[in-house]
Amino acid sequence: MILSTSTSQSLSASLADELNEPLAQVEYRSFPDGELLASAPGFEDDRAIIVASTVSSDAHLELLQLQDAAREWGAEEVVTVLPYMGYARQDKPLAPGRAEEGSAPGYPISARAVARAVSTGTDRVLTVNPHENAVCDFFDVPAEPVDAAGRLAEPLPADLADPVFLSPDEGALDIAATVRDAYGDGTTDYFEKHRLSDTEVEMRPSDTDVTDRDVVVTDDIIATGSTMSEAVALLQERDVGRVFVTAVHPVLASNARTKLARAGVETVYGTDTVERVVSAVSVAPTVAAAIDS
Ligand code: R5P
Repeated sequence: MILSTSTSQSLSASLADELNEPLAQVEYRSFPDGELLASAPGFEDDRAIIVASTVSSDAHLELLQLQDAAREWGAEEVVTVLPYMGYARQDKPLAPGRAEEGSAPGYPISARAVARAVSTGTDRVLTVNPHENAVCDFFDVPAEPVDAAGRLAEPLPADLADPVFLSPDEGALDIAATVRDAYGDGTTDYFEKHRLSDTEVEMRPSDTDVTDRDVVVTDDIIATGSTMSEAVALLQERDVGRVFVTAVHPVLASNARTKLARAGVETVYGTDTVERVVSAVSVAPTVAAAIDS
């Protein structure tokens, strides 16, 4: 039985098809005081697979409620799928000047706090392309990353000209390589990135000659769009061919989409880990295979 938070309904439907599992009709209510209630009255099964993109605090709450509901009906196994794990990027204490340190008095490690809470209601966790795979160590139950980046090759045109797959920083180079491998042609490289603030980044171009080449810029996540905008703006200064922007998690917070458009981005492709207009491809087949492995 698949149960979805309000944030993962399309992916849950696709996953139900892939796994040939029933899809519960979850009801979402909110009360005048702002409290929420996600419930699945009349549904029960030995195994509950809860699909929850925790893009908001409300989604975290819905997840905890659905886990509790499944335990209440007596599910023998509860599997939690976090297509997008919110707070995963806060995997260190965000104390001013101490970002790289493992602990700082008075500061939480938010990814750990969230992982511990999620662990209380589940037997197993799968999360798609977390910012760092090490975030899985924060859970108190078996947790595994699922690499679905290869699916981003699907919506790309078949006729890319001498393509180069660029990541905005070295950390995302493996994602660019995965997309290149899935596409079956092209080279990879990365930009040098330095983050100035939550919404500002400074970047230097890669050495790769991109003249007249189609470029696919690939990252794990587009949040404020600052990283991608800066990368594309640098590319626009050169005689590149077409530029495609792809990311596993198209969070696109606040004014990110217009920021990208102003930077000259025409095409953004993301997956349905975060359900947006640009979610051109589903991670359901990859997640289904991981659940059954
Ligand atoms: C950072 O290392 C990540 O891979 C992304 O590049 C970053 O989180 C994107 O954030 P934004 O869209 O806010 O620049």
